[in-house]
Amino acid sequence: RPLSVVTLCGSLRAGSYNAAIQRALPELAPEGMSFSVLEGLGDIPLYDADLQAKGFPAAVTAMGEAIRAADGIVIVTPEYNYSIPGVLKNGIDWLSRLPDTPFAGKPMAIQSASMSVLGGVRAQYHLRQVAVFLDALVLNKPEVMVASAQQRVQDGKLTDEGTREVIRKQLAAFAGFIEKVAR
Ligand code: FNR
Repeated sequence: RPLSVVTLCGSLRAGSYNAAIQRALPELAPEGMSFSVLEGLGDIPLYDADLQAKGFPAAVTAMGEAIRAADGIVIVTPEYNYSIPGVLKNGIDWLSRLPDTPFAGKPMAIQSASMSVLGGVRAQYHLRQVAVFLDALVLNKPEVMVASAQQRVQDGKLTDEGTREVIRKQLAAFAGFIEKVAR
């Protein structure tokens, strides 16, 4: 059976470098791994337990179902102020409150891109900490941190061959990881 992977981008902007990387994933994946993009992160209201008591927003329910049905999730995110963007944290906070939380036992791979020389490493390690509470199964290596992203993405396309190669390696490792831990 082929592996189905959902991808979530922590940036909402149209010209996002992280979204460019997310778009490149299908062409860098091993054979038998298919992708679908989780849409609607920006449509999720700010978390409020009173709102939750009235029922989960449709965007949360739909995203939760898509994650639950997938064999794994790849999160591609920028770093904001040395952490993950609030919009991503907000989405994760909502998803974590769903009954039968979709992240528990779910293989997860993390990628980040930033305009700085560290490529979002601090955001990645904050996301790893969040994933502990989610009980997600996070792939350790190889890590994908795309530094100076503005030099590696041209016209919305990930063109840098070195970056493409490390992503190929991570996705191949992710396929093996999913087989090992979750199938
Ligand atoms: C940033 N940026 C940034 N970069 C970084 O490497 N470390 C950081 O802590 C921050 N902090 C930060 C905060 C806020 C509020 C913004 C808007 C930006 C810069 C960031 O890397 C750059 O904007 C990227 O282009 C964002 O990713 P996308 O939108 O291109 O995917």
